[in-house]
Amino acid sequence: MENLMTTQHTPTPTTADAWRGLPAAQQPQWPDPELLREVTDGLAHAPALVFAEECDRLRERMAAVARGEAFLLQGGDCAETFAGVTADAINGKLRTLLQMAVVLTHGAAVPVVKVGRIAGQYAKPRSRPTETQGGVTLPVYRGDAVNGLAFTPVDRRPDPRRLRRMYEASAATLNLVRAFATGGYADLHQAHAWNRGFVSHSPAGRRYEELAAEIDRSLRFMAACGVDPQELRAVEFFAGHEGLLLDYEAALTRTDSRTGLRYAGSGHLLWIGERTRDLDGAHVEYFSRIRNPIAVKLGPDATADQALAYTEKLNPTAEPGRLTFVVRMGADAVRDRLPTLVAKVTAQAAPVAWVCDPMHGNTFEAPSGHKTRRFEDILGEVEGFFAVHRDLGTHAGGIHVELTGDDVTECIGGGEEVQVADLHRRYETACDPRLNHNQSLELAFLVAQMLRT
Ligand code: TRP
Ligand code: MN
Repeated sequence: MENLMTTQHTPTPTTADAWRGLPAAQQPQWPDPELLREVTDGLAHAPALVFAEECDRLRERMAAVARGEAFLLQGGDCAETFAGVTADAINGKLRTLLQMAVVLTHGAAVPVVKVGRIAGQYAKPRSRPTETQGGVTLPVYRGDAVNGLAFTPVDRRPDPRRLRRMYEASAATLNLVRAFATGGYADLHQAHAWNRGFVSHSPAGRRYEELAAEIDRSLRFMAACGVDPQELRAVEFFAGHEGLLLDYEAALTRTDSRTGLRYAGSGHLLWIGERTRDLDGAHVEYFSRIRNPIAVKLGPDATADQALAYTEKLNPTAEPGRLTFVVRMGADAVRDRLPTLVAKVTAQAAPVAWVCDPMHGNTFEAPSGHKTRRFEDILGEVEGFFAVHRDLGTHAGGIHVELTGDDVTECIGGGEEVQVADLHRRYETACDPRLNHNQSLELAFLVAQMLRT
């Protein structure tokens, strides 16, 4: 294949590398710059993980979202870990996402664009550079791409060789994602099988079983009529992560030999986080020079002028699907602060997709010390987000959630009523609390209902 983007090739090094001259927030202090260069030189010659045509296709799908013709489902761990690259864990996440997708597609009869928060989500922005425990101060954990979670000097020392492991873990995960999406398992005829092994006696689980039975009947009916379209046999599934570590992203940036344009080769959809979205910073500069579909997270303090400035800097040719705003304001703030942003951007800028992240604005610390979120707040933010768009006549374009296929106890509430006192039972996240399988399904049913009305 001609267009595999096999070499890193920089046609205009001055512009492609312009981010290096700008302030880059949230970058680790690598103690060994020589080793960092060795690792990134290696990555620069490694095969890209995703390809330009795939990114272009996702941009087209996101254009449908921006036009109000499709809905984005994005989900996965807050922070992936190297230890979490197991067949069971990845399968569980993918099956959960497929189940949510089928609930949304069936419930709302609208095409669902499926993107994992997966195969690259190994780096975390943090509120403080260090952490102190029992009088000892060490660098904060910044994700498996940078250092280890254990509170020891060895683990917490940033190690650039972890960037290579991030690439390998992403490649292994993406391989399973690709096999899963097109190898038969994502076939709609398997809708029942995706629920196997999960707790199916919960209200959401039972409701899912009924839905799967209904889909089965429809498929048998269509088969009896002689209809068996290929579209039912596979899904398009894309991978996305926060493009935080610019040394890694730059090393995996490739030039598409068809067009001479540059793409991040680390994932299909990359986003700029709330803490790194400085308009004059390195992240915005790097993102302005890649062709992937991209997103910017907008917190409660984001202004309409900032949003307009992002559209100008990141989408100067006004291409639909290029830019998505992922709003994470909190259940209360979203109703007050989002309307101005949506109104101004809709009136003055190129079409963007609006997506709701109902997780990050609703985090708090339980008395036990666990970071947690209430299911009802998460739902409340999605409801607020939908209400704002309903009032303005714009499209609530999707949800971006932190979830796992496992039966964890990290978020409170939901149909199985995880209590504060349950949090310690199975609290496994390396960073923020995730919806468990059952809470994820339940959310999908509730969002499908909102999409319908
Ligand atoms: N290909 C269609 C789609 O992606 C139908 C489909 C096949 C599907 N397998 C699926 C939808 C799994 C949701 C989940 O929409
Ligand atoms: Mn998070």
